[in-house]
Amino acid sequence: MTSSSSTPPLLRALNGERPDTPPVWFMRQAGRSLPEYKRVREGTTMLESCLIPELAAEITLQPVRRHRVDAAIFFSDIMVPLKLAGVDVEIAPGVGPVIDSPVRSAADVRRLAERDLGDTPAIAAAIGIIRDELAGTPSGDASWTPLIGFAGAPFTLAAYLVEGRPSRDHLAARAMMHADPDAWSDLLAWCARISGEFLTVQVDAGASAIQLFDSWAGSLSLADYTASVAPWSRRALDAVAGRVPRIHFGTGTGHLLEELAVGADAVGIDYRTPLDEAARRLPGVPLQGNIDPAFLAAGWAPLEAHTLDVLARGAHAPGHVVNLGHGVPPTTDPGVLTALVERIHQA
Ligand code: CP3
Repeated sequence: MTSSSSTPPLLRALNGERPDTPPVWFMRQAGRSLPEYKRVREGTTMLESCLIPELAAEITLQPVRRHRVDAAIFFSDIMVPLKLAGVDVEIAPGVGPVIDSPVRSAADVRRLAERDLGDTPAIAAAIGIIRDELAGTPSGDASWTPLIGFAGAPFTLAAYLVEGRPSRDHLAARAMMHADPDAWSDLLAWCARISGEFLTVQVDAGASAIQLFDSWAGSLSLADYTASVAPWSRRALDAVAGRVPRIHFGTGTGHLLEELAVGADAVGIDYRTPLDEAARRLPGVPLQGNIDPAFLAAGWAPLEAHTLDVLARGAHAPGHVVNLGHGVPPTTDPGVLTALVERIHQA
């Protein structure tokens, strides 16, 4: 299906087209690196701020106003649905998600599985405010800018639930996968249900695309990912199939690309795999990525040269959404991001 020229560039690229101006947005564009974010967040914890509709909407819109990116990403966190389901999760500043009572046994999984996402009026209200403002914010030759909703993939959520805090190799989670495959599949089924419901709430409220983040999938072998994780990620993605384009992203997942593509409409490529190689391996699949975030602090000439190389390699894919190969580092100079968007729009 071909979209019209008044369809925003992001949605055209995700549909396998090549709009005149390449669309660009940045993972983790909302927050951290922006002074206006630090100001409005003062005195409110990370997860609280995700559930105050006016605040979540304001933070979502800040990078769109400042950088003129081609998409907003909803200001929330992959931990928000767990919090809404009553899990005792907090985000410790400088550490990351911390869960007081990690899930370690089949009995823990059974207790968890009784929990539901419940009502999500704060999410729907925030997206309503964002959608109204983005309706008057141009992107390319379209009169509006789309909002991307997101959720954590079942493995990344399960890794936090089992480990209880950020970990490098997710040993406890991967041990449970092999020690108790039934408890593992019950855990992933619950995570897939919660993620799918969180995506559905966002799409119902007006998100125009979604991204599933499997940040830690790179720690898995291809065999384990294929047998014990991929079916659940697909189940989460299936929740919004046919409604909006679905981007599937993982870091360190060069060995998993073909699997990530199944059940998704586009694949996010981290900075380790060149886009022309990804395009060869995933024929017909629109790609997103993959500027190495390290270049944001390397000076303009290397950043510009690297970005032009990414654009040239991305030309091998049917559609290309320009992004970083992982999130914006907190220390990034926001002026560099604004200049980068401008440069990409001139390409
Ligand atoms: O700008 C955006 O991308 C939108 C919002 C967003 C946040 N987290 C806000 C946030 C998104 C899409 C996420 C996804 C997320 N959260 C992931 C997947 C993406 C990835 O980077 O791989 C993961 C693994 C999490 C869990 C999480 N939340 C971590 C590891 C951290 C960082 C902890 C730290 O302080 O170093 C968070 C906190 C978080 N989520 C912040 C923001 C803006 C920083 C909180 C702050 O400003 O105090």
